[in-house]
Amino acid sequence: MNKQYRVVRALVLGALLMIPVLLIAAPSPTGKPGSIERGRYVVKIAGCNDCHTPAYAMRDGQVPERDWLTGDSLGWSGPWGTTYASNLRLKLAELSETQWLHLARTARYRPPMPWFNLHAMSDGDLRAVYRYVRHLGPAGVAAPAYVPPGGAVATAVVQFPGPPPAQ
Ligand code: HEC
Repeated sequence: MNKQYRVVRALVLGALLMIPVLLIAAPSPTGKPGSIERGRYVVKIAGCNDCHTPAYAMRDGQVPERDWLTGDSLGWSGPWGTTYASNLRLKLAELSETQWLHLARTARYRPPMPWFNLHAMSDGDLRAVYRYVRHLGPAGVAAPAYVPPGGAVATAVVQFPGPPPAQ
């Protein structure tokens, strides 16, 4: 084996050994399961802010993080009555992580809350959402209470049509 070959082999081996180190060291934009970073990422991409953060969708997501998930007084009206996206900062402050996992796996809410998406989340993502919201801490006031169909509504609302006929 000539010297040049040995040097090249050493370099290649060295480079290969570096790969796992680089993989571990590279910061992941999605965060580790269960981590606060992951929670921030999931909340963002799962659309929780779109309804639970005031004006988030209308301001192209340009709402300071300190105001995220504080609930909204914009009503969602349809055959179910009028619902308001809850203040999750206050809600999660009163739940233990175990209670949150149970709720997220079993609760069914009125439209347009996509509770079925919560049911589909992995434990790691649900824990991450919980830890992230608890990390933000309680803030804001409770959203207006649910108004049954026909009740008096005192806020601006988004009006939904009735659901399409079942296929
Ligand atoms: C399309 C709008 C919308 C989106 C998107 C949305 N929610 Fe909601 N959410 C609502 C509304 C409206 C309610 C109130 C439902 C009711 O009154 O039954 C609600 C209620 C809830 C509740 C019940 C809180 C309580 O006070 O008991 C939880 C928990 C919740 N949402 C979590 C989430 C999470 C986590 C996400 C993101 C994965 C999310 N929501 C995405 C609209 C939305």
